[in-house]
Amino acid sequence: MTKHSSLLTRLLSPVSKDTFVSNYMMRKPLIIQGEKQRFDGILNLQQFFDLIRTLRHESGVLSLRPHPPDLIRLQKSDGYINLPYVVDAYSKGCSVHVTDFERISRPVKTFQSELEKDIKKMGFAIDHGAGCSVFLTPHHSQALTPHSDPSDLFILQIGGRKRWKFYGEAPFFGAPGVSAPEDFPCTLEVTLNPGDMAYIPRGFVHHAMTDDDFSLAITIGVRLLTWFGVVEKLIPSLENDLTFMTPLTPLEIDNRFLTEEGSKKLFYLLSNLGTLPALQESLYTTPVDLEEKPVVDFSFVNRVNELSMKTLLNVKHPISLIEQAEFVQLQGPHGEMKGPLKMKRVFEWLADQKYHFLVSDIVDMSDAETSVAFAKQLILKGLLSFADEV
Ligand SMILES: [Fe+2]
Repeated sequence: MTKHSSLLTRLLSPVSKDTFVSNYMMRKPLIIQGEKQRFDGILNLQQFFDLIRTLRHESGVLSLRPHPPDLIRLQKSDGYINLPYVVDAYSKGCSVHVTDFERISRPVKTFQSELEKDIKKMGFAIDHGAGCSVFLTPHHSQALTPHSDPSDLFILQIGGRKRWKFYGEAPFFGAPGVSAPEDFPCTLEVTLNPGDMAYIPRGFVHHAMTDDDFSLAITIGVRLLTWFGVVEKLIPSLENDLTFMTPLTPLEIDNRFLTEEGSKKLFYLLSNLGTLPALQESLYTTPVDLEEKPVVDFSFVNRVNELSMKTLLNVKHPISLIEQAEFVQLQGPHGEMKGPLKMKRVFEWLADQKYHFLVSDIVDMSDAETSVAFAKQLILKGLLSFADEV
């Protein structure tokens, strides 16, 4: 393994990605002990508190556990989180839990994106990222009772230490509320120290607690697209399909049990699920994230400022022209732009461009200044890109 290895490879080392997929992924927890400093640069305690200050109370992403916060005191008069109150609650034994942390921390966002990218590179589709949570837990405390989560979790121990207990031998899919460890034996008990990572498959019952040290940990949730997920997405559209909305006949059901005839019919219906037009449409329009989400890169902003009549541009295809009574609109996969009807010709011209072109080639512009300004707008709105960008 080198420093150029993928993030997932480094995160799992010494376990290989192949072993991870065959033995652990969606199967059982995996604990990896890592060098103490390996998560340095992602988050520390000071940064955690600094970032909390940027949160607005109404965003609802900050909660205190196990005791709910006093909502009046949690908010300052300007609407932002009242940090002294949070610190006070923490000192009295409350865990501070912040969800969607990737929205406020660029390093956390980058880590999450890299991890998702590596998982996709292994050929797995991600249904949706479940977001990153950060837990700050004081000593001798427990934020949550035993439970299972609907996503696979990668837990990065950033500071302090935390003791984890896992129950049962197999995931309990579809039972995220399960909370009775007495029903299942504790099968694994482990303490995470800074630099350690725990992978918890979806549906595995777990809980965590601190002893005489505090704990700062990041939880990155990843929800892989499963066949159950596909069927789950298809079900709402079954209601619009006449084949499925046909009542069962006495030949097909008897005393709430499917007859042989009924079983055959169900098998026939299910075997044709993927070919029903309404269902295909449903799957197509469902926001299944099979595409890589690029890490936001703002370097292009500098290039936009240097744009000239000689800059080569591309249209980000597919781009289409929508014509309404009072305006025209360009609609692309990454953005859109509305304009008055007099811009119809230039919008049509842009929608037709299959190859790169110069800013000076853009039709219907009154002068160079207008061309450059218009091209900048199109880039910033996600409809054009620089021709040398991949
Ligand atoms: Fe959990």
